[in-house]
Amino acid sequence: MKPFEGTKPFYRDSTQCVESRVEDLLGRMTLEEKIGQMCQYTRYPENYEELVRAGKVGSLFNVTGAEQTNNVQRIAVEQSRLGIPLIFGLDVIHGYSTIYPIPLAIASSWDPEMAKKAASIAAAEAFSEGVCWTFAPMVDIARDPRWGRVAEGAGEDPYLGSAMARALVEGYQGEDLADPDTIVACPKHYVAYGGAEGGRDYNTVEVSERTLRDVYLPPFKAAVEAGAGTLMSAFNDLNGVPASANRFTLTTILREEWGFEGFVVSDWNSIGELVSHGIAGTRAQAGKEAVEAGVDMDMEGNVYQTTLARLVEEGAVSEETVDDAVRRILTIKFRMGLFDRPYTDTSLATEVVQCKEYIEATRDFARRSMVLLKNENGVLPLKKDLKIVVVIGPLADEQDALLGCWPCMGKPEDVVTVLEGIKNKVSEETDVLHAKGCDIQGDSTEGLKDAADKAEVADVAIVVVGESREMSGEAGCRSTLDLPGVQEKLVRDICDTGVPVVMVLLNGRPMSISWPAEHVPAILEAWHPGIQGGNAVADLLFGDFNPVGRLPVTFPRTVGQVPIYYNHKNTGRPPTPLLYTSKYIDLPSTPLFPFGHGLSYTQFEYSNLKISPQKITPDSEVEISLDVKNVGDRKGDEVVQLYLRDLVGSVTRPVKELKRFKRTTLKSGEKTTVKFVVGPEQLAFVNRGMERVVEPGAFEVMVGGSSEDIRLTGGFEVT
Ligand code: BGC
Repeated sequence: MKPFEGTKPFYRDSTQCVESRVEDLLGRMTLEEKIGQMCQYTRYPENYEELVRAGKVGSLFNVTGAEQTNNVQRIAVEQSRLGIPLIFGLDVIHGYSTIYPIPLAIASSWDPEMAKKAASIAAAEAFSEGVCWTFAPMVDIARDPRWGRVAEGAGEDPYLGSAMARALVEGYQGEDLADPDTIVACPKHYVAYGGAEGGRDYNTVEVSERTLRDVYLPPFKAAVEAGAGTLMSAFNDLNGVPASANRFTLTTILREEWGFEGFVVSDWNSIGELVSHGIAGTRAQAGKEAVEAGVDMDMEGNVYQTTLARLVEEGAVSEETVDDAVRRILTIKFRMGLFDRPYTDTSLATEVVQCKEYIEATRDFARRSMVLLKNENGVLPLKKDLKIVVVIGPLADEQDALLGCWPCMGKPEDVVTVLEGIKNKVSEETDVLHAKGCDIQGDSTEGLKDAADKAEVADVAIVVVGESREMSGEAGCRSTLDLPGVQEKLVRDICDTGVPVVMVLLNGRPMSISWPAEHVPAILEAWHPGIQGGNAVADLLFGDFNPVGRLPVTFPRTVGQVPIYYNHKNTGRPPTPLLYTSKYIDLPSTPLFPFGHGLSYTQFEYSNLKISPQKITPDSEVEISLDVKNVGDRKGDEVVQLYLRDLVGSVTRPVKELKRFKRTTLKSGEKTTVKFVVGPEQLAFVNRGMERVVEPGAFEVMVGGSSEDIRLTGGFEVT
């Protein structure tokens, strides 16, 4: 029998406001039921029916398919005492079934509108399969490409990272948490997880409060401002207090300073791991630390389930603390409409998942995410009627790698490989040869000769190299950024044949490709581009699409330069040829490819920088405008980037910081005026007293096509 047959308690009345429904429900709950809402498990624990029926589970994750989620939901809604619905979570990171490029690639589009559209497609597919909550976007700033999770975020820059964070949250969530076809976002991993020492996942993080506020926090703040319903607390130690026990970040900053009203879920057992961190001697103590810091839901740790009731009974944790957490969780569940519409229409998925429209969109996302790193003497675009094209490399006909890390429900068999994409593209008269050459990893050189022999007879060799999908993502950290295995030898051997070579990189992080960067005439960074990756690569190589992507991360020359990022401080001795300056004696101090870099098949000319007014007060704005002209012979996109430098501050300031960017599409010969407005938000920084302020003084203005390719400079003054 349904618990509420014949009666309708207040909280079930959808005409009442969320706040009163939450209070009414909370007032009816036992301590055990409250704690149940704070527990999340993956798939089904063995006795899941019993747990759900007893009201001991607030959320399940990794359960997919409308029928499956409906079945468990039915137990929660129709058989538990209060009928509180479950919230079903999943890592929907870059697509649900229609897998599009990894987040680092999406950030390379420098196109937040595109990112938003991509996330909305992922959300619609996931929603149709009963998933209502994604553990995304990952908005961790990453300045160390050894860290595998650089693949999951938007790169090294807080401004671009914030723009992407905002767009992705809006894409997943739509206008309102109750909107159909949308899912709740969970920006992660709060906070500074990307600052792991040595680029080793889960490792210790030491960052000053200033760097935390200037660099690591802004994308989270942007995500919160965009209305993110939840947030995930990270695994890492943060300046001695692990992120999942850090009251300063979880309550003081997140709730008191930013007014976040959603709930916080821990990362996978990050509460239990407080014992390994050594700030809790027992799991009970870990539970107390986490709940009092502000972690509302325990992911898979089983700490709250087993310790919290006793802690409350003994007076070690107040029931108000538990109530606050439960209130936040229930509020989101009500706002999502879960109480009023707990089930998923089982016919929805067939209309939505992998529909034609989504697959086509995915091809476009992939094209827009790729970055043309080098194109000497116009090797690219290639002609479609070449006589012989050879496609070489361990990733040339690879499917799995193109999915990238966190492929969700994506399947390798859905992937169009680069070889297939090229075959689809060239003329009927063109012969497309293929040679694997070598494996992604391993030291066998057996296949190199076959590859070189085929290159000898070809008009062009397209060499597809990089990383498997396991080489980045969680725990996918590397101590070298070189091409793995004997892949560089393969590239060198093919270059030695004298055939024109185009290198396509499929990978999840910046790589130190110094030799190819010097010797291979054309290089396309295609990242892990998703299921339409092969077609997208061919669209770019053969000129059906003019590259528009720009790097959201710096490419180092060698791993020894790491961490290397464009918005660094000047030091007291910036690098010069003199000995006692800040540099390595065996490497140039510049990156291999800078942040913001990316070529087009056309060229752009910048002119006419105007800054007005020249003097502003700390609370007013300045307008910066310039003209950009397409001086090449085809239509293309320029991403105009505005960098500022605060020349003298009460604390040291970066040599440049991205503050605005604008994409403009111009026909050959066309000219446009690009206008930027910057104000207090862009000029402020955290001063000695830890306040965000605009200080009087001179600002340098730099505008160009990358952080190094500065075309116009000027300045203004804050008085
Ligand atoms: C990862 C999170 C992820 C969670 C759930 C953890 O290991 O760090 O990013 O959301 O697992 O799958």
